[in-house]
Amino acid sequence: MKNIILFASGGGSNVSAILHYFKDRKDVSFPLIVTNKSRAGVIDIAQEHNIDVMLVDKLVFTSPVFIDSLDVYKPDLIVLAGFLWKIPTFLVEAYPRKIINIHPALLPNYGGKGMYGHFVHEAVVNNKEKETGITIHMVNENYDEGTILLQKKIPVSEFEDATEVAKNVLALEHIWYSQVIDNLLT
Ligand code: GAR
Repeated sequence: MKNIILFASGGGSNVSAILHYFKDRKDVSFPLIVTNKSRAGVIDIAQEHNIDVMLVDKLVFTSPVFIDSLDVYKPDLIVLAGFLWKIPTFLVEAYPRKIINIHPALLPNYGGKGMYGHFVHEAVVNNKEKETGITIHMVNENYDEGTILLQKKIPVSEFEDATEVAKNVLALEHIWYSQVIDNLLT
């Protein structure tokens, strides 16, 4: 059995897509969702799927004993899906090559602190980029800088505005993230 811990603090559409993809898989389990938002959409999703929720504050998250509370769940992979806090170095070191993230742009462009959600897509449109897309990457101690596992591109000009771009980038995330996770498990 492979255990995947999800870190998520947004609406949770990626979490939903991942859970849907693996729903009939007996070899993969999602025992825990870690979130830093008490009103995150993922909390409802976790309850629907009988998944434990760990609500963390900065103090807990940045303290090395946090590893012990994750170890209980024996994670084979930690998947960030809309989680915006920087992952502390002790966590990166505790789970080498086992933490991955998805970012709604073509890294190394439009990454780093403060570059998330609509900020990314507005910057892409304002800069008249020809292409945007998604990046799935290993997490290291720097924001959005780990080894890139997959990028998928879409042309920006096809879409009317940043909202449309956002919608299409998110759809791409839903298609690809689960497949990359699945590949990493084998
Ligand atoms: C996704 O677009 C993901 O790429 C982004 O947050 C969104 C979460 O949406 N993550 C980042 O920007 C990380 N820097 P969701 O909660 O609907 O899955």
